[in-house]
Amino acid sequence: MDKTSEEHWEEQSGNWIAWVRRPGLDSYWTYREAFFALVPAPGFATLDFGCGEGRVSRDLVGRGHRVTGFDASAGMVAAAREAHPEGEYLVADAVSLPFEDDSFDLVVAYDVLMDVSDVDGAVREAARVLMPGGRLCLSITHPITDPGDRESPYLTSSPVREAVERDGLPMVFNGWSHPLSHYAGALEKAGLLIEALREPAWQDRPVPHHLWLRARPA
Ligand SMILES: C[S@@+](CC[C@H](N)C(=O)[O-])C[C@H]1O[C@@H](n2cnc3c(N)ncnc32)[C@H](O)[C@@H]1O
Repeated sequence: MDKTSEEHWEEQSGNWIAWVRRPGLDSYWTYREAFFALVPAPGFATLDFGCGEGRVSRDLVGRGHRVTGFDASAGMVAAAREAHPEGEYLVADAVSLPFEDDSFDLVVAYDVLMDVSDVDGAVREAARVLMPGGRLCLSITHPITDPGDRESPYLTSSPVREAVERDGLPMVFNGWSHPLSHYAGALEKAGLLIEALREPAWQDRPVPHHLWLRARPA
């Protein structure tokens, strides 16, 4: 049986931790200041949705946010706790969160939604735990650049599996290439309105590598 995306990320957690902690290796090192310009000022409580090994949580804490991070991968969560022992990190599935309704005024999901098996379910949970007046900030691989199965039509969701090596570090990415309407539809069904959208330029490439969104409950 094929592995789920969540099982894949658990298996890749060691590679991912080495990958993202190598200074300058991935685009987050370049992007983060511009991404955080889209993120509201610290408020009541911030959820790092699919926190991985915790780099976004640590940056949010550094900017004054009170952060809870969760991830489906126990290996990722252990690494997040080790790097930031005073932080709050837990293992949870994005489609079934162990939080009350209206628990957070900010949810940040950085490069997560193209990796979950159920985008609608994940966005529905993000909206459920978001307070009225709160914000959801997203980064996804831009649908026009995602290295999905190029044989598949753009409008069809297709699996992504890409093995790469950079600076001697191996990493296998596994997730989905969805059209933009798939993400916008998930936000619409969850009652969220897009209030800001950015397509940051990436190096000298002709198309952007990422898409950033900020949305709020209608
Ligand atoms: C590309 S990594 C990004 C991690 C982190 N946001 C960052 O930018 O460093 C994608 C993360 O999504 C997590 N993930 C995938 N499916 C998930 C699910 N259903 N529930 C929670 N986390 C999930 C993976 O375990 C992985 O840590």
